[in-house]
Amino acid sequence: MPESRDELRYLAETLNGMLARIESAFRKTVEFTANASHELRTPLALIRATAEVALMRAPQAESDPPNSNYAALSQILREAERNTALLEDLLRLARADSGTASLHLEAMDLTEAFRLTCQRCEALAARRGLSLRFLPVPEPIWVSGDAKHLKSLLLILLDNAIKYTPSGGSVEVSLLATAAGYAICRVKDTGIGIPADDVPRIFDRFFRSDRARTREEGGSGLGLAIAAWIARTHNGRIEVESVLGAGSTFRIVLPLLAQVPAAHEESTSLQPVLQGNTLQGNKG
Ligand SMILES: Nc1ncnc2c1ncn2[C@@H]1O[C@H](COP(=O)(O)OP(=O)(O)O)[C@@H](O)[C@H]1O
Ligand SMILES: [Mg+2]
Repeated sequence: MPESRDELRYLAETLNGMLARIESAFRKTVEFTANASHELRTPLALIRATAEVALMRAPQAESDPPNSNYAALSQILREAERNTALLEDLLRLARADSGTASLHLEAMDLTEAFRLTCQRCEALAARRGLSLRFLPVPEPIWVSGDAKHLKSLLLILLDNAIKYTPSGGSVEVSLLATAAGYAICRVKDTGIGIPADDVPRIFDRFFRSDRARTREEGGSGLGLAIAAWIARTHNGRIEVESVLGAGSTFRIVLPLLAQVPAAHEESTSLQPVLQGNTLQGNKG
């Protein structure tokens, strides 16, 4: 039926044209985000540096009223820092969207990488009156990963756990390799928890649960979107369990490396390290 073939072809052409326009519009948006973020970086850095220098030149005096220049400059600095972090997040997502994020996958020991990441957060946790513990893992756990990205994935979860746990609480990080071939890192806090209705949305860009929004903690709601992207690019995923008012548990699940790098072979095995009591109690 030549008639209808023509119509079909016409329809296909129209659809193709539409898809091409959507794709080009999407690409332009991604490019715009990347360019805008990049252009804003320099002026923000300048604002930050200027505020820092001014603060150093005129240190706070005890007689300073709450609305002193020092207080104003401190606020400018805080806001500039917050916006710098937001820009960096936007840039990362723009790179992820456009497929230009550079990922260097190599065999890496998750135990060592995550132990160091936890160490970096200890001081912050202590300042907030929280205990942060990395439960010792007896063995290296090998995955194919980009160490920088995987560390920042754990940092995002730790930052949240610390931010959303009131002083006096605790954050516990554990790591294990399962017989099914996965590395599982669990970040468990005793914080404010997430309302059940909000749980499916926390990985959406800019989503912040109202309970978090009312706190003065300045987040932009991009952290978990980035975390989920990093997990996905490593063929992994993030799981969440949360009880409102009692705490949250996030799990990073990554495929184990099938073959331990030769240089490390004799000192390691891929046996599950779920032994002893320290890694029990996955609920809550
Ligand atoms: N450990 C946690 N405890 C309670 N709520 C959390 C936790 N982690 C994430 N959330 C909720 O998920 C939202 C999104 O997290 P995220 O993307 O990191 O954004 P941000 O931390 O900037 O608000 C948070 O605003 C908060 O409501
Ligand atoms: Mg966050």
